[in-house]
Amino acid sequence: MKVTIDGQSIDVEPGTTILQAARMIGGDLVPPAMCYYSKLKGSGGKCRCCLVEVSKGSEADPRPMPKLMASCVTGCMDGMEVNSKSSDRVTEARKSVTEFLLINHPLDCPICDQAGECDLQNLSFEHGNPKSRFIEEKRTFEPEDIGPHIQLHMNRCILCQRCVQVADQLTDDRVHGVLDRGDHANISTYISKAIDNEFSGNMIDVCPVGALTDKTFRFKSRVWFNKPYNAHRECTTPGCCGKTTVWMFGGEIQRVTGRKDEYHEVEEFICNSCRFDHKNVADWTIEGPREFEKDSVINQNNYTRKLEKVEIATEKTILMGRDEDRKKISMAEIPLNNNDKNS
Ligand code: SF4
Ligand code: FES
Repeated sequence: MKVTIDGQSIDVEPGTTILQAARMIGGDLVPPAMCYYSKLKGSGGKCRCCLVEVSKGSEADPRPMPKLMASCVTGCMDGMEVNSKSSDRVTEARKSVTEFLLINHPLDCPICDQAGECDLQNLSFEHGNPKSRFIEEKRTFEPEDIGPHIQLHMNRCILCQRCVQVADQLTDDRVHGVLDRGDHANISTYISKAIDNEFSGNMIDVCPVGALTDKTFRFKSRVWFNKPYNAHRECTTPGCCGKTTVWMFGGEIQRVTGRKDEYHEVEEFICNSCRFDHKNVADWTIEGPREFEKDSVINQNNYTRKLEKVEIATEKTILMGRDEDRKKISMAEIPLNNNDKNS
């Protein structure tokens, strides 16, 4: 089947969604997605970030679809023509969806652990309005522990339901979900049951915002001060691939996550033992630095070129009294040589 998105055509198998076809083409035309997650069955259709305009339904029925369609749950038809980034209508809709998602989401990025790797932050950067029209009070909840290692900040949740799908698909005994309806809808556990399952930590990785955070990493460091490396170990937990990204600050592993692809979706799920219990460098075989997209703030520690000495011009005021940290960030032992740049 042939489908054309923003003028670029591709042949796809029957059953492929518009979002999947767009990802196969790649580039700017790929719609943003806050609830779809390729590794989770049944995800998508909740957030409406991925709306596109179908200007031609198919070869057999070329009428345009009157409403914008959620690309993550709309299947391709032969001869279909779709407008994504090229459509003003779509751009307006994405702006509205972003504004809607931010109605209740607090703007607490400066103290949120997800800052720097938050899909909502990226979406707002691209489609957000600098001014809020919302004058009502945002809804608030007390932070809640979901098991011994995970904290839920319901204030930040956008109800994408990815975490519920992780619990449904990776754990035997789901004890949390979306409770209540409408403005009262929230993610919680039933009668304060803690989640105690070897794969529960994957909820942290799939959460697109900072609603579910790793208690062993909370407030330890901003992600852009960490240097991510691919690493693996012989993991004995059934179902765990043992392949992770370890986030290092100096010689110290500060957190362990699954390896995420260019759409910030984990390549393979990992167990809680790898994630929470193995923070010694000796536990891991380090494969090498992990690459991130060019515009990611994590690329502040860019590894696509040779390491070179980093000059921190304002270091005296920014890192006052933290000489140890300054030493680790500055890589003072690496000689400064601009001719070494290869990218
Ligand atoms: S806690 Fe995170 S993953 Fe779960 S529904 Fe809320 S935003 Fe989605
Ligand atoms: S990603 Fe398609 S509706 Fe959320």
